Amino acid sequence: MRLYVNIDHVATIREARRTDEPDPVRAAVLAELGGAEGITVHLREDRRHIQDRDVRLLAETVRTGLNLEVAAEPAVLDMAEALAPMQVTLVPERREEVTTEGGLDLSGEAPGGRIGSAVEQLARAGSRVSLFVDPDPDAVLRSAELGAHAVEFHTGEYANARGEARGRELVRLARAVDAALDAGLAPHAGHGLTYENVIPVAALPDLEEVNIGHSIMSRAILVGMERAVREMRELIREAPSRVAEPGRWTPPLGHG
Ligand code: PXP
Repeated sequence: MRLYVNIDHVATIREARRTDEPDPVRAAVLAELGGAEGITVHLREDRRHIQDRDVRLLAETVRTGLNLEVAAEPAVLDMAEALAPMQVTLVPERREEVTTEGGLDLSGEAPGGRIGSAVEQLARAGSRVSLFVDPDPDAVLRSAELGAHAVEFHTGEYANARGEARGRELVRLARAVDAALDAGLAPHAGHGLTYENVIPVAALPDLEEVNIGHSIMSRAILVGMERAVREMRELIREAPSRVAEPGRWTPPLGHG
């Protein structure tokens, strides 16, 4: 099973100040060094975190595979088509949502319709196309009819469920994985997966890919906190001698 790391939150922190740090392109390199088998970013229409520049640079620099999430809207589809990343995942998008709240509603979709045309456009450009759907057999069949190569099952309900309900959600997910295989689609999963709940999902034998963002970014902030504070503490402690010594008045990490 491949781990794709979603690095949107790195850009969220940057956009909180509209500055140039932290850079998701650098974060992608580190995630790859850490063993990520792919990098996922969501280019939202409102550009609340990932920017066009990020996607362009990631398309050039990611060495594993870039999975670009976009809504089936012309402007972002055209960008995805032009960059032709290894994979594009079509997701539903609502401006007021905090994060993607559910899978695509494919009930009224037919080949040649909004989603079907988007799949065709992206596949023609050379990307593998995945549809983010709820773990339901109908959504799987519909995705296959629309020409998708893969389905990413929304694991939010699994993640939110507790006790027996979580067990039921896991069974639902496992059945959806089987349905995807029967339909000739690669089964992926993501949303709300954490260090605490990932094991049963990662143990599903035929699931090919998981996309995880929030939990890994949250942990990265905590496990990196001590070192970051220590480096600033050190810099402040050394400030008088650094000012006194020309040439040493540089940040310790070589940027700035
Ligand atoms: N997969 C898709 C399609 C998503 O939209 C997201 C969230 O951006 C994720 C996976 C990752 O979810 P989380 O941040 O909860 O791990």
